[in-house]
Amino acid sequence: MIILNKQKEYIEKIKKIIEKNNLNFTYYIETFGCSLNENDSEKFEGIFELSGMRKQNTPDGASLIVFNTCAIRENAEKRLLGRLGAVKKEAINGAIILIGGCMMQQEENIKLVKEKFPFVDLIFGTHTSFRLPENLYNIISGIYEEETKKEKETEANKNNKKRKTYVDILDIDGEIYEGMPVKRGEGSSAYVTIMYGCNNFCTYCIVPYVRGRERSRKPEYILNEIRDLVKEGYTKITLLGQNVNSYKGEGDILDFADLIDEICKIDGLKELSFISPHPKDFTDKIISSIAKNDKVSRNLHYPLQSGSTRILKKMNRKYTKEQYISRAKKIFEKVPNVSLSTDIIVGFPGETEEDFEETLDVVKKIDFDQIFMFIYSPRAGTIAYNMKDEYIPREVQNKRFERLKQLYNKRLDEINEKYVGRIEKVIVEGESKNNENMLEARNKNNKILIFEKYPNWKKGDEVKIKITKNHRWYLKGEKI
Ligand code: SAH
Ligand code: SF4
Ligand code: F3S
Repeated sequence: MIILNKQKEYIEKIKKIIEKNNLNFTYYIETFGCSLNENDSEKFEGIFELSGMRKQNTPDGASLIVFNTCAIRENAEKRLLGRLGAVKKEAINGAIILIGGCMMQQEENIKLVKEKFPFVDLIFGTHTSFRLPENLYNIISGIYEEETKKEKETEANKNNKKRKTYVDILDIDGEIYEGMPVKRGEGSSAYVTIMYGCNNFCTYCIVPYVRGRERSRKPEYILNEIRDLVKEGYTKITLLGQNVNSYKGEGDILDFADLIDEICKIDGLKELSFISPHPKDFTDKIISSIAKNDKVSRNLHYPLQSGSTRILKKMNRKYTKEQYISRAKKIFEKVPNVSLSTDIIVGFPGETEEDFEETLDVVKKIDFDQIFMFIYSPRAGTIAYNMKDEYIPREVQNKRFERLKQLYNKRLDEINEKYVGRIEKVIVEGESKNNENMLEARNKNNKILIFEKYPNWKKGDEVKIKITKNHRWYLKGEKI
């Protein structure tokens, strides 16, 4: 583990350049992908803010434009290429353009960006993001400080580019870096990454290749970060990792269950969530830790991926349909009023009609309050990518996706009925997005509740609501 003092010196140096040249330096950042990427972007923003830059919400006229990329599915990559094309005007006008994140850990993407978008100033990856202050300093000092400027310009002319494209990528991972500044979002929720990387190599998934091997942060750093956040008023904490329940600690906090227990002791913390756990590591100890700590959110993510044991094996998920179902039942039994969300991939290579029916069967048997559905997207470098003979035609994938969606809608209506009649204490989040005469809140199962705007009720108030009606995507309630 490394503490980033040297990088903090670069932040100071950038700040001096901005002040010396009296620059109105603004940044714009766009994040693709999962909450781990969002948390990384919060760290980038922390660096920019400490350097004396100001955030803006559009790329127009920004001094610095950053894309934090995702490689999980093809559409994430396509979107990035479109967005890069769209900021060419800003680049020509002198904006510094940086691209980081998972997609840049793949060599072919670096090549693509360098060829198609030579105006990019820096390409960095997930293992080198801690060096962002240093890399940014090199670029900014190259532009604003005379002696280095000449040198860089010659190089840029030689390559016939606006400026040189720096590339800072490491294939190896290992070290965890502590001490990055973080700029949190508004509101009372904050992300805390507890582990990096993934060792599971699910055969469809690119993450282990772009995020490296599993590394857990030391418990004391996690606990201190959460204590500080709670003091600052962040009362809802979400722990992040690609497989949070395989967390490995030290001392008295050895595993994920111990970590939950310890975090829940923090005074002032109201709600603890985590994404994503892996069903194979959902131990009895973790289930009982969730059950006994009522600060833990009653909405758990429990990713299925497929209901067919044969496909699960091909996916390298390390559980069977029956094991998945019996563990889900145990969760429902031990944690009263819990709700589950899940991820499902349809059209994985070799998925037969019977396999798909097995997936539908699990959706019929288990009450999922939320299903994130994906059509299998081949990722070069993964094992499933090479199962080309067994790829499922697009029309078949689309049809299965539609059938799953239909079933999900029907199930949701059934599942929502069990909420009708319940009395819930919730915090008003604000006006409903679709109806300004109504207020909105989420209950502990992450369900959206909509209710009338009583004159003295306002954002942040804790109110008691009786749920009266299911509207599929939300529940209607009234004051009691
Ligand atoms: N670590 C998390 C998942 C991260 S990716 C977990 O194990 O649950 C989020 C979701 O994207 C996955 O759960 C999976 O459903 C989906 N996904 C990942 N790779 C995919 C691919 N190649 N095609 C389609 N969906 C994919
Ligand atoms: Fe990907 Fe599987 Fe790791 Fe999740 S557990 S990140 S799906 S390899
Ligand atoms: Fe995408 Fe990387 Fe997350 S590939 S889903 S941003 S870990």
